Formats: sequence, structure tokens, C-alpha cells
Amino acid sequence: MIQLQHVFKEYRVGPVKVTALADVSFEIDKGEFTVLAGPSGSGKTTLLRLLYRDEVPTEGEIRVAGYEVTRLRRSNIPQLRRAIGMVFQDAKLLPGRNVYENIVFVLRVLGTPRREIAPRVMQALKAVGLSARAQALPAQLSLGEQQRASLARALVKEPALLLADEPTGNLDEGIAEEILDLLREIWNRGTTILLATHRATLADQLKRRTLVLERGRLLKDKD
Ligand SMILES: Nc1ncnc2c1ncn2[C@@H]1O[C@H](COP(=O)(O)OP(=O)(O)O)[C@@H](O)[C@H]1O
Ligand SMILES: [Mg+2]
Repeated sequence: MIQLQHVFKEYRVGPVKVTALADVSFEIDKGEFTVLAGPSGSGKTTLLRLLYRDEVPTEGEIRVAGYEVTRLRRSNIPQLRRAIGMVFQDAKLLPGRNVYENIVFVLRVLGTPRREIAPRVMQALKAVGLSARAQALPAQLSLGEQQRASLARALVKEPALLLADEPTGNLDEGIAEEILDLLREIWNRGTTILLATHRATLADQLKRRTLVLERGRLLKDKD
């Protein structure tokens, strides 16, 4: 599902060169649940952004879901992103739209046939336990519910791969647990998941394969 070969990413900040990733190589198979761990600033977000072609590497090869991400034409980027669901620390919901509309939006962009839209949105909401809140505005939801809504928005595409960048970073422990349980359920239903977190305890608790980054280098890869 994911393959990186000798990936480097440097950012230029004025005259200064920042090495965000250095010689990172690994593979993740379809159906795996993998944790990407490492302290703040170690390159986790950069790595995820490379996977969905939000950034391009300075060097190296990247394949995701059958796409040669590094050689993808601009016009083919939407196809890649169709295969990838993304959730972030901040739910990034449109504040003026209710939960239902926030999710519908994704399917409209994808050109989903009209009659398929409502059932798919309701199915995604059901999968995250948010069916009863479809008409609520983001501001009327708790942070945990907002994160569930952003998960539903990622899932409605039925992505082969789910990338989660510190999705529990804003949540209290109990609520964070619920989101992690949901990720496990999503994984059990066949979605490949890559979860970035700076919390080592969370990585341990999940008991999944863990890729550890430190200053942009892949320190270890433990099962
Ligand atoms: N757009 C950017 N421009 C310049 N430097 C960046 C940019 N994004 C990230 N960096 C730098 O790259 C390094 C890795 O950052 P990041 O990938 O955000 O790490 P993490 O997600 O693990 O906290 C940091 O030193 C950060 O300051
Ligand atoms: Mg980050």
C-alpha cells in the first residue's frame, strides 16, 4: 500500500536548510495498522504530506495505493487523494455547514451520483456513531464529536488508506480512547491505517507495528 525508498525532504527557510526527512525507507502492506511515532518536529506530518502529494520529496521514490506519487501528474493528484482519507488534530469542519453538509461536500466533489449520496453519508455517520447529530453545526458538537465527523468525512470516500495526523491531540484521554477504538473498528473492516502521534504511551498501548522517527530519520521499526 505504501512504499518509500530513500526519501529526503528539505525545506528552505530563507538562507537556512531544514532537513525534515533523511533517507527514510519502509513498506506498509495493505490491511496493516501502523503507528508513526516520534517527538514533535521529527517529521511525521511532513511524511504524511508526502504520501498524499501535498509536498514533494527532495529525493527518493514514493508509491501509495498503486500510484507513483513522486511522478504523478498534477491532473492525476485528485485520483490519488480519492484513495486516501485524511484526519488531522483539528477537525477542520466548515463552520457554516451542518455535519451532514460537511460530508456531502466530499461526494459532490467526487461526482458521486445523486441517489448514492444520502445513503453513503448516513452510512459514514453511522460508522462513527453520529447518526443523531447529522443536522448539528460543528460549534454545537463536542471536540470528540467534531473528530468523529471528520472521520466520517474521510470514510465516506471509502478510502483504501486512512492517514491520521495526531487525531486525538486535542482530546481528553477518555474521548481519545473512543477515537482510537473507532480507528480499530475501521481497520477491522479492511482499511489500511497510518496513525501519527508524538505520544509514546499511545503508540505502546496500540500494540501495532511502530515506525519511530527522530530528527527526520527512521530510528526503528518495531512490531
Ligand atoms: N513548510 C515548512 N517549511 C519549513 N520547515 C518546515 C515546514 N514543515 C515542517 N518543517 C520543519 O520540518 C521538521 C519536521 O516537521 P514536522 O513534519 O511538522 O514534524 P512533526 O509532525 O513530527 O512534529 C521541523 O523541523 C519543522 O520545523
Ligand atoms: Mg505534526
